Amino acid sequence: MPRTIIVSNRLPTKVLRTNDTLTFHASEGGLATGLGSIFRQEGNVWVGWPGLFVDDEQEEGYVREQLRQDRMVPVMLTEAEIRDYYEGFSNSTLWPTFHYFPQFAEYEQSHWDAYVAVNEKFCAAVLEQAGPDDTIWVHDYQLLLLPAMLRAARPGATIGFFLHIPFPSYELIRVLPWARELMEGILGADLIGFHTFGFMRHFLSSVSHLLGFTAQNGRLEAGDRTILVDTFPMGIDYERYVAAAASDSARQHEANYREALGDIRAILSIDRLDYSKGIAQRLRAFELLLQRYSEWRGQVSLIMVVVPSRDQVAQYAALKEEIDELVGRINAAYRTMSWTPIHYFYRAFPLDELAALYRLAEVGLVTPMRDGMNLVAKEFVASKADERGVLILSERAGAARELSDALLINPTDTSQLAEAMHDALVMPEAEQIRRMRAMRQLVRQYTVFAWTDLFMNRLAYSKNQQHSLDT
Ligand code: G6P
Repeated sequence: MPRTIIVSNRLPTKVLRTNDTLTFHASEGGLATGLGSIFRQEGNVWVGWPGLFVDDEQEEGYVREQLRQDRMVPVMLTEAEIRDYYEGFSNSTLWPTFHYFPQFAEYEQSHWDAYVAVNEKFCAAVLEQAGPDDTIWVHDYQLLLLPAMLRAARPGATIGFFLHIPFPSYELIRVLPWARELMEGILGADLIGFHTFGFMRHFLSSVSHLLGFTAQNGRLEAGDRTILVDTFPMGIDYERYVAAAASDSARQHEANYREALGDIRAILSIDRLDYSKGIAQRLRAFELLLQRYSEWRGQVSLIMVVVPSRDQVAQYAALKEEIDELVGRINAAYRTMSWTPIHYFYRAFPLDELAALYRLAEVGLVTPMRDGMNLVAKEFVASKADERGVLILSERAGAARELSDALLINPTDTSQLAEAMHDALVMPEAEQIRRMRAMRQLVRQYTVFAWTDLFMNRLAYSKNQQHSLDT
């Protein structure tokens, strides 16, 4: 039976080393959480990096075997590869460029060389797994060259590619010295997917400028191949979040948090540590809320969860310091003996505790500067079974295209964001219910399962079309 080989930089399971013991945990980030549910349901294989450096053969064998039992195939990266390919080209060149932070981007030939080499390493690992009838589904910006490498090795293979982050304007792409190679890499796929129409439009414009290929109705004529390009807004495993929020454990945690907070109302934000998430701007907006509407002092707290991420990359370490400083300053200026303005957690939370936070919070604050989709917004909505609560959402998150019943804001506009928080806190219940109901319906309908089906069906269609043209 044909299988799907999922390929992404990070496996849905990450291995951590604490005091010489290896432990296995769920990975962070939208891609792993989103696709995790799919992969566990079907007989698929997932190829990716387990998140740690192993230089001992015995340890490598152990990791390989543990993951194999869960149908995962690890691609081991050396320390130099982690530095140059992962922290380097992926997260210090592509990530800032694609999120409109070109001032943070580095252009290092050695990082590029490592990026090519690691994409080749992934290619070898996939080829070892993939049979001729299998479908290969490559994910995200760390593996932009992989579709073309796979195509060169297996011209007839069925290859899909999905980009989980924004695709920026050609004006940013053209700055990259390796722009052409990157575009050629992606074009190895039969189907190329994006979260939004805007990202797809930017991609097609870059292909046209750099390679001279044009598209009509989502059909890209690239030399002797026809490639389909389309939008597939990713969803979540809705029922999983509904069930988590309804669980006894979530209710118990919520009761504990409520007891600790007393009557104080909660605004919640949850992100990976990332400058694209607008965390510092959000803190300033919360401070402005307290300045402008002093009646909220002592009444409302911001619960802010920041999940550690990429902290070896300089910009991330600097952001961490900025957040520490801002939280410290705001809390010191406004706190009282019985009220803490910002409850800041720098760690990952298990699902039942996240669900408890989603239940507890009256306002969900999702304010990225740029975001491919942002699944936290959808998780918040799914967790609100009583239809109460307000989502404040950045208009620059992919999710804003769908969740138009959120309070949509421009995250750079601190004043507008502070006003939105105030509006959310005073919003009549009937309006909360109307908005939340509409959003819940959407999130329930377009789940990650529907997303996968749409993508896979479209990929099969693209292959069939090619075959009917061949004959
Ligand atoms: C985003 C990216 C993913 C990535 C995740 C976590 O969601 O789209 O590809 O896995 O962030 O980042 P990390 O660098 O820890 O894998």
